[in-house]
Amino acid sequence: AVERTLSIIKPDATERNITGKINQRFEDAGLRIVAQRRTRLTREQAEAFYAVHKERSFFDSLVGFMTSGPIVVQVLEGENAIEKNREIMGATNPKEAAEGTIRADFAYDIEKNSVHGSDSPETAAAEVKFFFADVDIVK
Ligand code: CMP
Repeated sequence: AVERTLSIIKPDATERNITGKINQRFEDAGLRIVAQRRTRLTREQAEAFYAVHKERSFFDSLVGFMTSGPIVVQVLEGENAIEKNREIMGATNPKEAAEGTIRADFAYDIEKNSVHGSDSPETAAAEVKFFFADVDIVK
């Protein structure tokens, strides 16, 4: 089925000016960028977006990283988009990411891992809504 997923190009990637290279990966895989905005998260926004990880040891560091520079938030649309994007990104830890994935090719480490993608239909719906109004998503 055609799905939408929330993608974030993280501060380690915007800092290196590789947002276009990453977007090319999505488009080459048949995903369409149907909404996109460059922004910088406040601490409150980052804490809210990653609230499910609140109790994890890496939470404070993650929030610090995600607020350290600009990000690009985007909605990707396509057949099986949620799973397809997870394949294109590769494993969270770049050391475990398959060859040719975004994280294998660009990520620094398990935190500075260049991209985020929704992990299920439920989180995709919530995460898309976190950043975008329906009128700002244009097929
Ligand atoms: P992301 O897919 O955005 O989801 C949570 C983020 O926390 C993850 O990518 C990493 O940037 C960061 N993170 C840091 N340490 C860990 C860890 N040990 N396990 C999972 N995520 C981590």
